[in-house]
Amino acid sequence: MRLARQVAIITGAARGIGKAIALALVKEGAAVVLSDVSEDVHKVAAEIKQSGGQAVSMVGDVTKQADCEAMVDLAIKTFERLDILVNNAGITKDNLLMRMSEADWNAVLDINLKGTFLCSKAAIKPMMKQRSGKIINIASVIGQIGNIGQANYSASKGGVIAFTKTMAKELGSRNIRVNAVAPGFIESKMTEVLSEEARNRLLNLIPLGNLGKPEYVADAVVFLASDESCYITGQVINVDGGMVM
Ligand SMILES: NC(=O)c1ccc[n+]([C@@H]2O[C@H](COP(=O)([O-])OP(=O)(O)OC[C@H]3O[C@@H](n4cnc5c(N)ncnc54)[C@H](O)[C@@H]3O)[C@@H](O)[C@H]2O)c1
Repeated sequence: MRLARQVAIITGAARGIGKAIALALVKEGAAVVLSDVSEDVHKVAAEIKQSGGQAVSMVGDVTKQADCEAMVDLAIKTFERLDILVNNAGITKDNLLMRMSEADWNAVLDINLKGTFLCSKAAIKPMMKQRSGKIINIASVIGQIGNIGQANYSASKGGVIAFTKTMAKELGSRNIRVNAVAPGFIESKMTEVLSEEARNRLLNLIPLGNLGKPEYVADAVVFLASDESCYITGQVINVDGGMVM
């Protein structure tokens, strides 16, 4: 139990990578606060409680400051502390730059980047008081190398990586570590829209030869949330089968 007595918030926890992260943190003993715009988040919390874990859930939008603050308040009210924040909520709205609307640019930047800012800002208040905390941002390899059709997404995830490093510098003296995990291509709702051809093209780029599973991302998050990474901050761990190196 590497995270016994720790309290974690996970955004976008209703499914996919966020749900896998929630289950992995619970397995290591953490109590979790789950938030998502989807009501399905309550089902994930119920599943955790049924198997003996501690979880509460709320419907919340990471682009709304009041929702981010309510999420942190829920953690403090229920579990009396906050040790870990996982900024996982994210979306894609792909199109070539020529055809990308301002609305699609704004939606992706708002959720992926501004949402990470708002949740982090709310979470560091109790963490600074405790003089300890861990923030883990889910970025993407696309934030490092770019991708055709993903101008908004790549800019948002590149922003998340830069923001991770600034937070690590600002908060290190308060014993708050801030790192990012950059997944490559992971099997989830986000990638199930890919055509067979696109899938095969991608597989050729991945030295390990297979798409990733949400659990692989969750394992890296558990590491960054645990004391095993106590001297690691401001880093990006790629979980991508070797695709970007
Ligand atoms: N799947 C991949 O291959 C992949 C690769 C790199 C990075 N990522 C990143 O991993 C994270 C999770 O992705 P996923 O593949 O599980 O996607 P997903 O679409 O399955 O899950 C995303 C979750 O975020 C929630 N969400 C969306 N907007 C929200 C908002 N405004 N406030 C709160 N919650 C919101 C959704 O309801 C959903 O439950 C994202 O940040 C994504 O960019 C995924």
